[in-house]
Amino acid sequence: MLSSHFVLLPLFGSVASAANLWATHYSGTINYLTFSGSSLTLTKSTSTGNNKLPSWITYDGVGKALYIPDETFYGAQGGNLVSFAIGTNGSLSSIETGATPLGAVATALYGGSDGKSFIANAHYQSSQVTTFKLPLSGGQPLQTLKYTGKGVNPSRQEAPHPHHAFVDPTGDFLIVPDLGTDLIRINKIDKTTGKLTECGTGKPVPGTGPRHGVFWIPANASSRVRRAAAGTTLFVANELSNTVTGWSVSYPSGGCLTLTLKQTLTPYQGNSTAVRGTKVGEVHVKGNFLYSANRNDKKFSPNDSLSQYTIASDGTLTWTDNTSSYGTYPRTFDINKAGDYVAIGDQTTANVAIVTRDTTTGKLGNRVADLRISTVGTPENEDGVSAVVWAE
Ligand SMILES: *[C@@H]1O[C@H](CO)[C@@H](O)[C@H](O)[C@H]1NC(C)=O
Ligand SMILES: *[C@@H]1O[C@H](CO)[C@@H](O)[C@H](O)[C@H]1NC(C)=O
Ligand SMILES: *[C@@H]1O[C@H](CO)[C@@H](O)[C@H](O)[C@H]1NC(C)=O
Ligand SMILES: *[C@@H]1O[C@H](CO)[C@@H](O)[C@H](O)[C@H]1NC(C)=O
Ligand SMILES: *[C@@H]1O[C@H](CO)[C@@H](O)[C@H](O)[C@H]1NC(C)=O
Repeated sequence: MLSSHFVLLPLFGSVASAANLWATHYSGTINYLTFSGSSLTLTKSTSTGNNKLPSWITYDGVGKALYIPDETFYGAQGGNLVSFAIGTNGSLSSIETGATPLGAVATALYGGSDGKSFIANAHYQSSQVTTFKLPLSGGQPLQTLKYTGKGVNPSRQEAPHPHHAFVDPTGDFLIVPDLGTDLIRINKIDKTTGKLTECGTGKPVPGTGPRHGVFWIPANASSRVRRAAAGTTLFVANELSNTVTGWSVSYPSGGCLTLTLKQTLTPYQGNSTAVRGTKVGEVHVKGNFLYSANRNDKKFSPNDSLSQYTIASDGTLTWTDNTSSYGTYPRTFDINKAGDYVAIGDQTTANVAIVTRDTTTGKLGNRVADLRISTVGTPENEDGVSAVVWAE
């Protein structure tokens, strides 16, 4: 009995169930975290070098690489997109850079035969999208798409503010929600050259402030018909109206992807209005459930909330539940592949909280682990935790 315990404990204890995560902190670090099922620990912290304000993580698990854009928005002429090669136990090497304009807040891999031969950066501060061919070589962008215009909200929409960039399910289009002009910008991708051509827009109601988006494909869609599956929906988190919207996606033959606004919901039961100060952040999908992070709503005071929505087969949302973010300003969150845990990155309290997720009902449960990373931030400042992703 005793000897079998000695054998079994290391196998079925923390070692067997360990999972890892990457988290960036605005003080200029990328951190490798280890989650045992009940504890979260810092395994390694690495400087992001001449990227002084790391704002986002694009993780390539297959290529074992990390891409981190730079939000630097003052002083310097620009920032530095950095990439790292991932070694063992969270060690990082081969730092490569690309010179970017100010204020990059999100990146996306796209194009080539592998869908990751190029990278796009959304620049909130400087109203543009830049692209680079990979690997980065220290040089200037391959392409710069500079936007003009403004929206109806004078304090937040004085200029275009691209906030996210992501590829559609076919890999043929790059989508850019622009918080400043109330546009969801649609770009056709030339997979060979990496060149983007703006081919259309989704037009939210003025003052909506689209920030972040995610595609959902009906579970019954076979891979052959995914492209045009009835019900394929784009869900968008809107920071200024504090709503989530569902957009029907269609693919006219040979043309540009089109978006038709289908539904608008607040993150709250009975579609009740967000309290003043709320800033809806990200949305993510797992199976037939959508989740939004509702920064500064203080619904679990002093902590904020996450909302769960159920997605019907036609892409329609129903509000389902709310849970604590276990910290303040949940800027970022990520659901693991198995769907049984969610990592929440609370920006201002600078902690990563891990909560359970029921893979059948989609409900988020209790916090099982939590870790403060470096210094806490100040509400509304670009400090604290900026991004978290599962390393899988
Ligand atoms: C990685 O960490 C494990 C566990 O601490 C250790 O046994 C192993 O030697 C490490 N590997 C390297 C290459 O450092
Ligand atoms: C999937 O289900 C939806 C809604 O029931 C239906 O409209 C659609 O045609 C179905 N798609 C396939 C590929 O069966
Ligand atoms: C929910 O509230 C939003 C914002 O007030 C509104 O635009 C939307 O139409 C409402 N949706 C429903 C289903 O009542
Ligand atoms: C949170 O969800 C519970 C039910 O799970 C509900 O009673 C409560 O009203 C919800 N709060 C908000 C702010 O939606
Ligand atoms: C808020 O989150 C922190 C960090 O996870 C936790 O320690 C605290 O208990 C939470 N407070 C409430 C009221 O839920």
